[in-house]
Amino acid sequence: MNPILNRAALLAGASALMFATAPAHAADKIKVGFMLPYSGTYAALGTAIENGFKLYVQQQGGKLGGREVEYFKVDDESNPAKASENANRLIKRDQVDVVVGTVHSGVAMALAKAAKDSDTTLIVANAGADAITGPMCGPGIFRTSFTNWQPAYAMGPVAFADGKKTAITVTWKYAAGDEAVKGFREGFEKAGGKVVKDLTVPFPNVEFQSVLTEIAAAKPDMVFSFFAGGGAVKFVQDYHAAGLNKSIPLYGSGFLTDGTLQAQGPSAQGLMTTLHYADGLNTPRDNAFRADYDKAYKLAPDVYAVQGYDAAQLMQAGLAAVKGDIGKKADFRNAMRSATIDSPRGPFTLSAAGNPVQDIYLRKVEGLENKVQRVAVQKLADPARGCKL
Ligand code: BEZ
Repeated sequence: MNPILNRAALLAGASALMFATAPAHAADKIKVGFMLPYSGTYAALGTAIENGFKLYVQQQGGKLGGREVEYFKVDDESNPAKASENANRLIKRDQVDVVVGTVHSGVAMALAKAAKDSDTTLIVANAGADAITGPMCGPGIFRTSFTNWQPAYAMGPVAFADGKKTAITVTWKYAAGDEAVKGFREGFEKAGGKVVKDLTVPFPNVEFQSVLTEIAAAKPDMVFSFFAGGGAVKFVQDYHAAGLNKSIPLYGSGFLTDGTLQAQGPSAQGLMTTLHYADGLNTPRDNAFRADYDKAYKLAPDVYAVQGYDAAQLMQAGLAAVKGDIGKKADFRNAMRSATIDSPRGPFTLSAAGNPVQDIYLRKVEGLENKVQRVAVQKLADPARGCKL
């Protein structure tokens, strides 16, 4: 046989073998599954999380850890009854590398269980369910948002220092509302106040007349509330229309007025809330993020967009450490847990349980902004009760 041809054939064979045995991770895309609400009262929140995540990926040239990203999506409808099935669409059917989701605490707890059972990495980009970074915590479970306890607890001492001694709480009857109320009570009563009554409506009902009548009759010094998305718009409008804002100030976790101000209009003016993001931070990092988000989506970003953006930043931290080889699961996760995220909200780290340790801002609604007033609590860590990590 001609030796030159022979050598060429050998080289061709060798290079075919090289491609055949090249590690799959180098060529494949990273598969990210969004399990988010794209319909119902939390639809806008889901879209903002996806927008934020994709913005960061676009800023990295469409890649994380040097690998292209392929997206899979499920609309979870904020429906806990469909949550396990929806989670398994992404985990078992689409075999995603990482799930990013979701908004509703009840849905998120089922998602966290499915992620843990299958050892899939989960980044919770909103839902505050305390249990996820409490008893359900695990090496593959991360959050770039908050626990329901965090912003609500921070409001307690703020309201008491504002001269409020008695409070009624009002929220939707599900984990997020229950835990926000519990957090507020802890902070408020530790400061010296007293919660005199807890009122609830079923999720996602927006018939608030009977609770507003009860509040008017009881005349507490203040009301603390947890609502978000479409429900927050309606609650703030109804509270204002009932004239209650003139005599009984309304406070809340910042979800009450985040991403909702355009729709709430004059009814939200002056409301004070606590949250891990605010308008007017005026840092170079936040200004750049806001300009880029506005350019990409023709929208002002809200807290949900920030949480999605930071979910992508967290993934990037993990993937950079393993040079894109997401198969190195333990190293990928360890790098995420020890990362410092350069967030538009301000830099944050994760607790051992995987939840942000972060500043909580006091904000006041002025026009279309939740204007920062000051840091209410610095570097607030969730107590992570029940987490064994
Ligand atoms: C929750 O269900 O955890 C939640 C939903 C919307 C905003 C904040 C928290």
